[in-house]
Amino acid sequence: MATVSFRDATRVYPGADTPAVDRLNLDINDGEFMVLVGPSGCGKSTTLRMLAGLEEVTSGSVWIGEQDVTELPPKDRDLAMVFQNYALYPHMTVGENMGFALKMQNVPKEEREHRVMEAAKLLGLEEFLDRWPKALSGGQRQRVAMGRAIVRQPQVFLMDEPLSNLDAKLRVSTRTQIAALQTRLEVTTLYVTHDQVEAMTLGDRVAVMREGVLQQVDSPLALWDTPKNVFVASFIGTPPMNLMPGTPVDGGIRIGKHVLAMPRETVERITDDEVTVGIRPDNLVITDSPEDAEFHVEKVELPGSDAYLYGTIDGAGPEVCARVQTRRPPQAGERVRLGVAEDRIHLFSTRTGDRIS
Ligand SMILES: Nc1ncnc2c1ncn2[C@@H]1O[C@H](COP(=O)(O)OP(=O)(O)O)[C@@H](O)[C@H]1O
Ligand SMILES: [Mg+2]
Repeated sequence: MATVSFRDATRVYPGADTPAVDRLNLDINDGEFMVLVGPSGCGKSTTLRMLAGLEEVTSGSVWIGEQDVTELPPKDRDLAMVFQNYALYPHMTVGENMGFALKMQNVPKEEREHRVMEAAKLLGLEEFLDRWPKALSGGQRQRVAMGRAIVRQPQVFLMDEPLSNLDAKLRVSTRTQIAALQTRLEVTTLYVTHDQVEAMTLGDRVAVMREGVLQQVDSPLALWDTPKNVFVASFIGTPPMNLMPGTPVDGGIRIGKHVLAMPRETVERITDDEVTVGIRPDNLVITDSPEDAEFHVEKVELPGSDAYLYGTIDGAGPEVCARVQTRRPPQAGERVRLGVAEDRIHLFSTRTGDRIS
């Protein structure tokens, strides 16, 4: 096992104006499951490939344990990678596929078979060892790809969107299996995905990236409760956090005609004339208080036990979504009062996008 560190790690592709990964500083603890998440093209795969040695590091360094591996060839880095396109060798059985890397390393046959069997047991693949890849489902093939990584007993696992090719239901069950497996094996893991739900359910910690720049590294709970900026706030959570322009005034923040009550100390600390108010749909509740904002319901969705109300505050401004737990939601065209607990209101500087704490 080992720690992993990126120190000002930067990758500029030849001919590119801006770095694909820009001065990344990230420490992964021994045995930790770190998830790197962000929109497509933000530099996740490049980060992973720098750690694997498949992409040159333009400046900065990459460390595994106490060793600077920046210049080390991939084969000497003692890590195993699982990709989105887990191409198995079609002319080899599942067992042969899983043991192939060991064979290349001249690991004796007996030990090879032992390690393949151990991995097969972990993954529930014992009965498939003699089958051909084409006789497996997508999910089973994905487990074989995991098995190939596990038998190598590496110091670090690297996974690049390994679930992307699976259908929604299988993705959720395989996700649970990966989490359980990683907990059991305690191998330091860097897992890349563009799916924030996947990130939040899998990661011990989650690193959020945007346009090559790391935005925040935190536990899923901390990302949820205290996003560092507007980007992280709106990237984590579905439906996304409501963001509304507000003006600090006596007694709170004015949003349109409504004044959202806030403690005097909070308002006095704000130096900007304009702020962005963030409230998660989950934190809005229907109330009878005339103090609360009047919400004009325009659309109601009922995907399950909760109702999603879409509308506007006082019939103006950006669309706001409220997720309310009720079997009898209001109808489109109705008006209701929406309240929010003071400690569930997020404030950001409109100028910089940074959180105002
Ligand atoms: N081999 C390459 N040559 C040039 N540019 C690349 C190469 N690979 C990726 N890029 C660019 O680098 C940026 C980051 O890509 P990537 O790391 O693949 O993002 P992600 O995995 O987050 O989708 C993108 O703008 C992409 O177009
Ligand atoms: Mg990628």
